[in-house]
Amino acid sequence: MSGGLIDEAEVANGVLLSLHKVIDPEIRKPIPDLDMIGGVAVDPDGHATVDLRLTIVGCPAADRIERDVREATLSTPGVTAVTVDTSVMSPEQRRALTLKLRGARARGAQFGRDSLTRVIAVTSGKGGVGKSTITANLAVALAARGLSVGIVDADVHGFSIPGLLGIPADATPTRVDQMMLPPVAYGVKAISIGMFLPPEQRGGAVAWRGPMLHRTVAQFLTDVFFGELDILLLDLPPGTGDVAISVGQLLPNAEVIVVTTPQPAAAEVAERSGLLARQTGQRLLGVIENMAGLVQPDGTVLDLFGSGGGAETAERLSAGQEQPVPLLGSVPLSVDLRVGGDAGTPIVLARPEDPAAVAITGIASRLAVRSTSLAGRGLPLSPR
Ligand SMILES: Nc1ncnc2c1ncn2[C@@H]1O[C@H](COP(=O)(O)OP(=O)(O)O)[C@@H](O)[C@H]1O
Ligand SMILES: [Mg+2]
Repeated sequence: MSGGLIDEAEVANGVLLSLHKVIDPEIRKPIPDLDMIGGVAVDPDGHATVDLRLTIVGCPAADRIERDVREATLSTPGVTAVTVDTSVMSPEQRRALTLKLRGARARGAQFGRDSLTRVIAVTSGKGGVGKSTITANLAVALAARGLSVGIVDADVHGFSIPGLLGIPADATPTRVDQMMLPPVAYGVKAISIGMFLPPEQRGGAVAWRGPMLHRTVAQFLTDVFFGELDILLLDLPPGTGDVAISVGQLLPNAEVIVVTTPQPAAAEVAERSGLLARQTGQRLLGVIENMAGLVQPDGTVLDLFGSGGGAETAERLSAGQEQPVPLLGSVPLSVDLRVGGDAGTPIVLARPEDPAAVAITGIASRLAVRSTSLAGRGLPLSPR
């Protein structure tokens, strides 16, 4: 006992415990676990002084972290006042933190065979079928269910995920030494190939060849710190074989969703991208039909793009399979879905009652509960 009004050591411990409630908004871990608390001192009057170390100079979340530290400290029994001494980690401290985070990742958090993260690649036979719109909304719907979700936007021909999630066009990942922290929007950690282009190239399509794409996707998967995700969604460029092969090599556990339109003629193209994924050892999770009949104000349905393409694709992909490939859902044409995409306000949150939002949320629920057990996941049976 100190002889003061309170037991300072006990209060200081209490403060440390409270500080575990402060989560770094980018790394998504409690700040004491990130060595961001250098120490806590409490004087006999209950005045606490917290030594806060930010990871980088000009940390964009500095104000928020400081405020949260102040609040958490003041909420601790015995604390009457607080001073936060903010500094920035030394290069050595930062390196130690990077090693620590990398260590956690090497233990299986980052998408290898032993990873618990489900990797779902979203593909389509051709562009413009709504693959990115569906991917972004699925991710947001899954995050809203409490899952930890990431998106890799690897569609070099038209990276659009940041825009769909309302992430500013000039956003860049925060760097902590060699690691990149993805921006977070609507609870989804999103990284886009567009974030790595010089600003003047960000608006347009980029002509990239397979090997370059392979390297870039590989870089996303190793240098971007996603933390422990439940689900990682990949928005891939349409159709090209190179990418399916890269994904097969880089992410052996990846499952594949094929997006198609209701046009019967589209089924053939969609089938090809599905078959290619299967050839590279990936499991086909199912088919999503998008741009299905538009429900008009008078209740009649306008099948702008025909009907039946989704079911037909699923049927073709099921041929000769032990387990049929399901049609996961059919998403109708919706003005609000497009408007929400343009505005960066995903419709599953902004207008959940819209029929397209209802359909996408339904698909997310199906994905959230793993429909099949480990059967068919290609467990490595042969000793290596
Ligand atoms: N169900 C839908 N109803 C209305 N518009 C849609 C729907 N799905 C997608 N769109 C619109 O179609 C366009 C192409 O969608 P996008 O997601 O970019 O396709 P992809 O990624 O397959 O190229 C976008 O303008 C998008 O807003
Ligand atoms: Mg797209």
